[in-house]
Amino acid sequence: RKSDIGLIGLGTMGAALALNIADNGFDIAVWNRTTSKTKDFHDKAGDLAARITPTEELSELVAAIASPRAIILMVPAGQAVDDQIAALRPLLDPEDLIIDAGNANFHDTNRRVKEAGDLAFIGIGVSGGEEGARFGPSIMGGGKAEYWDRVSHILKAIAAKHEGQPCATWMGEAGAGHFVKAVHNGIEYADMQMIAETYGIMRDGLGYDHQKVADTFAAWDKGALRSYLIEISGKVAAATDPVSGKPMLEMIVDAAGQKGTGRWTVIEAQHLAAAIPAIEAAVVARNLSSQRQARAEGEALFGAAPHHIPHDTLSKDSIEEALIAGKILCYAQGFQMIAKASDAFGWTLPLPAIAEVWREGCIIRSAMLDDMANALREDEDRNLMMAPYFADILKKTHKSLRHVVAQAALHGIAVPALSSGLAYFDAMRTARGTANMIQGQRDFFGAHGFERMDGGDGTHGPWHSD
Ligand code: 6PG
Repeated sequence: RKSDIGLIGLGTMGAALALNIADNGFDIAVWNRTTSKTKDFHDKAGDLAARITPTEELSELVAAIASPRAIILMVPAGQAVDDQIAALRPLLDPEDLIIDAGNANFHDTNRRVKEAGDLAFIGIGVSGGEEGARFGPSIMGGGKAEYWDRVSHILKAIAAKHEGQPCATWMGEAGAGHFVKAVHNGIEYADMQMIAETYGIMRDGLGYDHQKVADTFAAWDKGALRSYLIEISGKVAAATDPVSGKPMLEMIVDAAGQKGTGRWTVIEAQHLAAAIPAIEAAVVARNLSSQRQARAEGEALFGAAPHHIPHDTLSKDSIEEALIAGKILCYAQGFQMIAKASDAFGWTLPLPAIAEVWREGCIIRSAMLDDMANALREDEDRNLMMAPYFADILKKTHKSLRHVVAQAALHGIAVPALSSGLAYFDAMRTARGTANMIQGQRDFFGAHGFERMDGGDGTHGPWHSD
């Protein structure tokens, strides 16, 4: 019997995805560049081994799959994907389908869809880490709908479920799936950064020990902030290093890694003139975090900030409220960017369905996404911060965000993502801004012209008349 699908790349994510597919009753053929890895994977597959066909040659993999074939690529994003497609091409029949399930840059996916020729090609964003890949990821598909339809029964079967509804959705043509995954990762960066900032306030400002930080996150995980990221932050804070016996967090170097998806989101936002300052702040914070030596020199030069915040000045509850407000503002920015891209690229990205597909399985899954899906279903053209449900929450919480950011500023604790969330909120609630000055300056030095408030004809100022 031939396999229902094939998979190339048995790294952590590929192996987990293959087991998930087999576990859901599909036969799968697998191949890895290093054959020993394939053998090892099959040997350790237990009961699922019967559904898995390990192959040593690419031609053997192709021959093992039922036609028209579908093959998932789970190889590192970038050149490896192009190389793999090139290696497969001569072995495949027209209309055989290649599915890139890695974290591709959506521009590459756009190109690969064009270059596919008589092969079928789709790009799917897969979120949820190893655990998600094994037991139910969130899947964001892009490419021709008919190609997605050919494999959607498998992808929906392996995806996470929210009240029985699979978190696997076709987002649009070409790179739409990978684009939505990139914005997911941008939001992921900002969500993580804001949580890390509240950790900094608790640790440096309020002097909490790790257990108290862990308990606070655990308590927040029962309220409006209930989410995977808050849950794991509590677990990270609670963990003890088996080597030193110290809190694990104390032993982890404070320099954040990044594979680039958050950065791509920020670069793309600039191309689109989309305003995602919280996500930008999060990417910048990761960049700065890697400048450890310079930060140590800065501390030696300027002295450490007077971190201590009097306990009666700042309560745990106000930090929780600040994080709630910050989170809403960050997601509002992410969805606004998706809406802009949808127009710019001629996609019809389904905003409510995107919130739905993120409700389970992915890294940013949270209780709040269900409310976001509801708000976007009511009106997907409206900025989420203006939706009545979220506007009500922001009216109650923005004062805490302001207070927390102010206290952090007074005590020298950097909270770039929360601050930028607050600045976004204030900018978006200011009908008369200050860009009239920018326009005046532009006209002064470059005669760039401006629009008049009274709609009158003059488009230049009197600067140079005397
Ligand atoms: C997910 C994650 C996943 C991965 C990224 C994280 O949704 O499952 O986003 O795709 O963890 O590589 O990116 P950084 O390495 O840039 O933090």
